[in-house]
Amino acid sequence: MFETALINAQTRIGDFLTDQMKRLGDDNIAQGMRYASAGGKRLRGFLVLESASLFNVPPAQALYAAGAVECLHAYSLVHDDLPCMDNDDVRRGQPTIHVKWDEGTAVLVGDALQAFAFELLADPAVGNADQRVALVASLAVASGAQGMVLGQAQDIAAETAGRTLTLEEITKLQANKTGRLIEWPALAGAILGGGDPAPLRTYARAIGLAFQIADDILDIEGDAATAGKALRKDAEAGKATFVSVLGLVDAKAWANTLLRTHVRRLRPMAKRRRPSTIWRPT
Ligand code: IPE
Ligand code: IPE
Ligand code: MG
Ligand code: MG
Ligand code: MG
Repeated sequence: MFETALINAQTRIGDFLTDQMKRLGDDNIAQGMRYASAGGKRLRGFLVLESASLFNVPPAQALYAAGAVECLHAYSLVHDDLPCMDNDDVRRGQPTIHVKWDEGTAVLVGDALQAFAFELLADPAVGNADQRVALVASLAVASGAQGMVLGQAQDIAAETAGRTLTLEEITKLQANKTGRLIEWPALAGAILGGGDPAPLRTYARAIGLAFQIADDILDIEGDAATAGKALRKDAEAGKATFVSVLGLVDAKAWANTLLRTHVRRLRPMAKRRRPSTIWRPT
């Protein structure tokens, strides 16, 4: 059930972005944008479609926000992989942009994906002017100097901090770096549907944390071919991760507790959901 819904969302979001990016032409940067935004699990876009369905928002409308958060996320990955950041050669099973093209192109492809995310949110098909402004403003906050970018800066600073960060510090770092872009989909569904995002936001914060713990565990235990990226790098790079402070066993236990507790809390909302509004075959 979950897997079918996720695969369905992946296809819809992929098709939507292919269609929207047609207008960008075929220059180098447009090619890089298509390349960098293809594939991936589409978790953030999936969460937009799911939160939108809770508020009875038509999928055709919600797809703009789903596509936007996936472009924003793809930009963050292109920059995250740069030699001056994590210096990674493989992403989603393919050579990274700075390897396939060059560093300058990778910086610009990231910049252009970020701009395109906001272009999508500003489209009149998204909703009324208030909704569009609210989506643009909230994604800007979630991704900027108080959100993802701050978290990335904290991640880099931790490498040279010369000490192990406390659990509280790591939780804050990861909430910024990963959490804010996983939380935003809850807000997007509520903005589009005129609902209260509070219960969903608590849930989204918890799964954001659990997701980053899983990514940290993946770095230690995962299979690079399946993950589509280089693994076993965090410890050597001196990354501040949940596993580095808690150890593997406690990190896994904490991720499981977060998921169990918050999925249970969300159950009353799930009863209201009408999956057919999103997943009706077209
Ligand atoms: C990877 O995110 C970066 C993190 C925040 C851990 P994903 O694991 O969602 O990457 P894709 O989109 O599936 O490639
Ligand atoms: C990346 O986190 C987070 C962002 C891009 C904002 P990581 O550096 O842990 O992600 P991976 O492991 O390279 O996918
Ligand atoms: Mg990183
Ligand atoms: Mg990285
Ligand atoms: Mg990682």
